[in-house]
Amino acid sequence: MQFNYYNFSGDIKKKQTFVFISDLHCRNSEQVLEKIEEGAKNKIISQSQNKNLNQNKNNNNNSNKRNNNNNNNNNNINNISANNNPTAIDNIDAVLIAGDVLHNSELYNEGLRFLNSVSKKYPTFCSLGNHETRIQNQDIINKIYNQNAVILNNDYVLFNGIILGGLTSGEHCSRFRMFSKTPAPDLNFINKFSNLSGYKILLSHHPEYYGKYLKDKNINLILSGHAHGGQWRLFNRGFFATGQGFFPKYTSGMYGNMIVNRGLSHENIFPRINNPTEIIYITVSPFNK
Ligand SMILES: [Fe+2]
Repeated sequence: MQFNYYNFSGDIKKKQTFVFISDLHCRNSEQVLEKIEEGAKNKIISQSQNKNLNQNKNNNNNSNKRNNNNNNNNNNINNISANNNPTAIDNIDAVLIAGDVLHNSELYNEGLRFLNSVSKKYPTFCSLGNHETRIQNQDIINKIYNQNAVILNNDYVLFNGIILGGLTSGEHCSRFRMFSKTPAPDLNFINKFSNLSGYKILLSHHPEYYGKYLKDKNINLILSGHAHGGQWRLFNRGFFATGQGFFPKYTSGMYGNMIVNRGLSHENIFPRINNPTEIIYITVSPFNK
């Protein structure tokens, strides 16, 4: 498992530190809470991620300019710091989950247990991935909402001065769709969220939504998962991701203003190769402080 760190600044009043996880698929969930705290305590930051951040600084500046043009009176742009080594992760303000905590109608209890235990310890916000939207059993759906976690189903909340949104997967078919295109998300919600004023973080399970639906919107930070790092990684590139196909574009790291988490699950059918699971820590600090 890798622990990676991103540092942003924005037009907010108080520094916030988030843990960002994705794609548990009900597996390893007993250890995840333990690992979240171990990573924060040991401050294990991969060097490759630091390099990634520096490489993407220019991209993000372009994105910032675009956001600024779209929103002249609202100076809530991102600013990625080049100094990525945190002195400490001394406090976790909230846990953000970009979907696929559960796996399916048969394999869901462990995911619910995790949601329950993590949300008792930290404020927890969770968007819905394709493995949650596939579940048709209303009892299980009710149980997802009955944990302490805030489920952001095409919805948003204000948390410590930051607007947290969750874009739900557009996939509602129970059939396994490995090669087909991901159905579109709720475009009305995206527009509504984009028009809000304030520092905005959007949990959006599918990274393949980025180019077509999200990158030109007025959103500071987008957090995605789903691609599982491309399952097998060679030359810093993933091999396959559902919804993107072979040699997918978005699998791990930062692309413009989107971070793609490699997720936490170990697949039984296709083992991960050169592709460690990941817990991400994100700090957003006020400008000039
Ligand atoms: Fe997924």
